[in-house]
Amino acid sequence: MIHKGLAGVVADTTAVSKVDPDTNSLLYRGYPVQELATLPFEAVARLLWDGELPTERALGEFSARERAGRALDERVRRVVEETPVSAHPMDVVRTAVSVLGTLDPQTGDHSPEAERAKAERLFAALPAVVGLAQRRRRGQDLPAPRDDLGYAANFLWTVTGAEPDEVAVRTFETSLVLYAEHSFNASTFAARVVTSTLSDLHSAVTAAVGALKGPLHGGANEAVWQVFEQIGPGEGSAGRARDWLAATLDRHGKVMGFGHRVYRNGDSRVPTMRAALHELATARGRTDVLDLYDALEGAVAEAKGIRPNLDYPAGPAYHLLGLDTDVFTPVFVAARVVGWTAHVVEQRAANSLIRPLSEYDGPAPRHVPGAG
Ligand code: COA
Repeated sequence: MIHKGLAGVVADTTAVSKVDPDTNSLLYRGYPVQELATLPFEAVARLLWDGELPTERALGEFSARERAGRALDERVRRVVEETPVSAHPMDVVRTAVSVLGTLDPQTGDHSPEAERAKAERLFAALPAVVGLAQRRRRGQDLPAPRDDLGYAANFLWTVTGAEPDEVAVRTFETSLVLYAEHSFNASTFAARVVTSTLSDLHSAVTAAVGALKGPLHGGANEAVWQVFEQIGPGEGSAGRARDWLAATLDRHGKVMGFGHRVYRNGDSRVPTMRAALHELATARGRTDVLDLYDALEGAVAEAKGIRPNLDYPAGPAYHLLGLDTDVFTPVFVAARVVGWTAHVVEQRAANSLIRPLSEYDGPAPRHVPGAG
């Protein structure tokens, strides 16, 4: 029997996270993600990598290492600057991860300690890569990292060049925690497939970035804000949302930010991110965005009975945080790199080459003219 898209196939065990579509829950190492969303992202990263929440001391030590590793390596900057400014930021991030792999002193060391050290270095380096991807397109310089700020606040500072207020940091940090891990999604599975060949961590992450770029996966958060722009928030947006949806469904188009392969009754992460978006939009006087959010969600539920996924509230939140639309998915990379690398370590610890079978349905056996 063929399981197209591997739907419903259990490919391995994992102790990193558990997605339960029946109870609409998501646990990271046993903890409900909603409870983790109130913690610093650095603590959640340590939990996903190590299996336990860090002690205050361990968190402080990790945070010091992360702050010391934030500056962009000049060699990465030079390679990025050789790529066209028109290149999509996801392509820039994919290239930068690959370059970081060539520079890492432990690329060939696959011990769990070395893998975690490399994961930490990537974690610390990615905000500057994402910042460079946005700022060079705007003709702006990359600001120096701020080691007086936590990871989420420094990330926003690096990309926008402005010190974020509390509500911005809270919203952003919530999104990072919610995006960090989601069991055997397409990009994580890609990372595990690469690791299963005994390749290196940066190769696995590079492949994962490529998988995340697609609009059926991480690329959906960009697509959501593009839809909001097409419809246009503000007076009369509910009617425009219904018209837009009717036209999209008429041409059998998909509504980005809706539906999920695993969750059938709603994505467990949405209520937490919706609340964060609500707080941010209210603080910014942009309740028009919330009105459009509710209108489109209601129209899709009525027409198709499909519920939003995490990308639906994350897209508008990222716009209100001052991020350019095409860096939304690169931000997702910076969060998901934690999950990917936790899975790389897990895959390596109990490896079996991932190599499924296929059923041949090509031409019957035949001969090259003159050869048979
Ligand atoms: N908009 C419109 N219709 C949708 C839809 C959406 N976002 N998501 C699912 N459907 C419909 C499909 O058209 C299909 O209808 P049909 O049976 O009449 O053909 C049915 O629901 C099943 O969808 P399918 O695409 O087969 O489910 P899947 O498990 O393969 O897909 C996704 C899951 C996530 C790929 C899919 O829901 C989707 O494309 N969503 C939009 C992209 C997105 O937001 N991705 C981020 C995921 S976190």
